[in-house]
Amino acid sequence: MSGLEVTIGTLKMKNPIMPASGTFGEEMAKIIDFNQLGALLPKSITKEARKGNPTPRICETFGGMINSIGIQSKGLDYYQKVTVPFYSQFTSPLISSISADSIEEFAEVSEKLASMKEVASLELNISCPNLKNNGLAFGMNENITYQLVKEVRQVTDKPLIVKLSPNVTNIGVIAMAAERGGADALTVANTFIAMSIDVHTRKPKVGKVMGGISGPAIKPLVIRLIHQVHQVSALPIIGSGGVMTGEDAIEMILAGATAVQVGTANFINPTAMMTILSEIEDYMRQYEIEDIKDLIGQVKLT
Ligand SMILES: Cc1cc2nc3c(=O)[nH]c(=O)nc-3n(C[C@H](O)[C@H](O)[C@H](O)COP(=O)(O)O)c2cc1C
Repeated sequence: MSGLEVTIGTLKMKNPIMPASGTFGEEMAKIIDFNQLGALLPKSITKEARKGNPTPRICETFGGMINSIGIQSKGLDYYQKVTVPFYSQFTSPLISSISADSIEEFAEVSEKLASMKEVASLELNISCPNLKNNGLAFGMNENITYQLVKEVRQVTDKPLIVKLSPNVTNIGVIAMAAERGGADALTVANTFIAMSIDVHTRKPKVGKVMGGISGPAIKPLVIRLIHQVHQVSALPIIGSGGVMTGEDAIEMILAGATAVQVGTANFINPTAMMTILSEIEDYMRQYEIEDIKDLIGQVKLT
C-alpha cells in the first residue's frame, strides 16, 4: 500500500513502524521480513562492553513489564564489525541507538558511528532509567540535554533523534532544550521508573530494585506526553510506549507522532510489527486516508 511513507529529518521511511531499541535483535530476521519495516533500530550501544545489571532483570506487571537490563552491550568495536554489516543487508535504514556515561563519550561514539555509510541516523538514549543513580538520566535535566545534543550535533549532519525521558515534571522543557541543541527528531519516550515487590519473599522483583515499565499499561501516559511535546515543538516525534495494535499506532499519530516504535509487543508476539502494519492499512482504507501524514497531530480537541 502506498501513502505510508514518512520522513524524520532527511531520513526517508517506507512506513512509520520501527522496533523500539532493546526489544529487537538479529534473530528476528528468521521470523519477519526486515525489509518491510520503516527502520531498523537495535539495542543501545556503548563504547565499551558492559554486562548490564544483576538478575532478575525482567518481571511482568499488569499490562506491562519492568526491566532493569542496564544496557548490556558488546561494545562499539563489535557493533561496527558485526552488527552494522548485518543490518546493512536490508533495505530499511539503520538507526543506531547510543548510550554513554558522559557527554564526551556520547560525542565520540556518535562521531564514529555517523562516519559509517551504513548508519542512516542516530538515536541518543539520554533517558535510560537503569544506569547509575537509580535512573537519574541525562534527559532529566534541561541544561545537560541541551549541552549533550549540541556537542553531538557538531560531529554529524545525519538525522539526530533524541530519546526523551518520561520521568520529568515538564517534558516540553526538555523537548525544547533538545530542539535548541540541534535535534532533528524526538522519541517520546523511554520507560517510566517503576518498582514491584514479591509479597511472598518481600523482595523487589528485579535485582536492581527499580526498573523501567513498558507495555500497554503506559500507553495513555505516553499519548499525553506526545501531545504535550507536539504542542511546544515543531520536530517530528517518534512515539514509543505501549503500542500493541495498528489502532494504538494511529492513536499516537493523531496525538502528534510521525513514526511509532514497537517494543514490549515483540516479546508477546514476534510478528507484532507486521500485524500492526496491516492494521494501519485497514484503518486507512476504512477512513479513506490516502496519506498517513494527513493524520499527524489530527486529534480533535474541540
Ligand atoms: C527489555 C527492554 C530493553 C530495553 N532496552 C532499551 C535500550 O537499550 N535502549 C533504549 O533506548 N530503550 C530501551 N528500552 C525501551 C524501549 O525501547 C521502549 O522505549 C519502551 O519499552 C516503551 O515501548 P513499549 O511499551 O512498546 O515496550 C528497553 C525496553 C525493554 C522492555
